[in-house]
Amino acid sequence: MPRCLEPTDATIAEAAAALEAGGAVVFPTETVYGLGADTSNPVALRRVYELKGRPADNPLIAHVLDADMARLLTNDWNDRAAALAAAFWPGPLTIVLSRSANVPREATGGYATIAIRSPRHPVARALIEKFGRPISAPSANRSGRVSPTCVAHVMADFANEDDLIVLEGGASDLGIESTVVDLAGLAAVILRPGSVTASMLADVLDEPVEVQQHTGQAASPGTRMSHYAPRTRAELLAGAAISEALSRLHGRGIVLTIGKRVLPAPHMAITMPRDPAAYAARLYAALREADEADGDLIIIERPAERSESWQAVLNRLERAAIRDA
Ligand code: TXA
Ligand code: MG
Repeated sequence: MPRCLEPTDATIAEAAAALEAGGAVVFPTETVYGLGADTSNPVALRRVYELKGRPADNPLIAHVLDADMARLLTNDWNDRAAALAAAFWPGPLTIVLSRSANVPREATGGYATIAIRSPRHPVARALIEKFGRPISAPSANRSGRVSPTCVAHVMADFANEDDLIVLEGGASDLGIESTVVDLAGLAAVILRPGSVTASMLADVLDEPVEVQQHTGQAASPGTRMSHYAPRTRAELLAGAAISEALSRLHGRGIVLTIGKRVLPAPHMAITMPRDPAAYAARLYAALREADEADGDLIIIERPAERSESWQAVLNRLERAAIRDA
């Protein structure tokens, strides 16, 4: 089992020393837990890919304390980056910029750009501050699995990793991964929607911000279609179509309903919140519960609302309901 530590000055120092020695440390953030390693250490970064079972061309996010630390990683800290960092850091926004020559290729999956974010969670910040340099961290789940929003999820995915240090930080406030915005091109483009929406970015940049649509092969490998999938087959259905789908099903359906709903045996309902932020905070734990409920099919009730505040959640739901061929 990994070693799970309550964050104190002493355990943060121990975790920072482990990073210094080329080890990996799981730490909490306000979005999801991250599996961190020293951005400047190619061997440590390769270990992170290996631990996750992550394809080597799927780039990592470098976590920094602030804009000053971000400048160490890019040769293009431009006005747009500065404006977004001033408005949204620390917080759930990742900025993609051209990477500087000193960043090892392992930190960016070989990309010429680097993704950078300054997290808000106090334990993440204390760790970066103590370590003193950027920490590259993907979400702390096995590749292709649902991101972890609490330590129990991390433990479930990495049960056999005795060398791993896990810093405890409670349940993640936001529950879905950061917004990734690409500033390396002419137009600002959202590669992965999150709590910071296109209109929030557009307001600060004073220019339109597009959301990249996912049609099969996406530009950012981590945003490929089936990525947030539970192991059990999942379908995304409108509320009105659920009863019929259950009546056709030979077996047990596990249904994520929006608001309370009573289902006939042997089916089971997991009640989800009606508010998009609360829904997001609950989503990954609910998908893991649904997976463990011994069903034959997971049905996710499609949120009826199309407003921007549901966009990040809808993106994850659509991808949970798709399986790679
Ligand atoms: O909220 C988060 O962002 C969490 C916490 C731990 O900070 N991290 C996270 O990391 O979700 P990960 O590795 O699971 O997702 C990183 C996403 C992937 O979709 C990846 O393809 C994209 O960011 N990404 C990273 N570097 C990129 C780059 N240079 N260009 C385009 N996309 C990039
Ligand atoms: Mg991930």
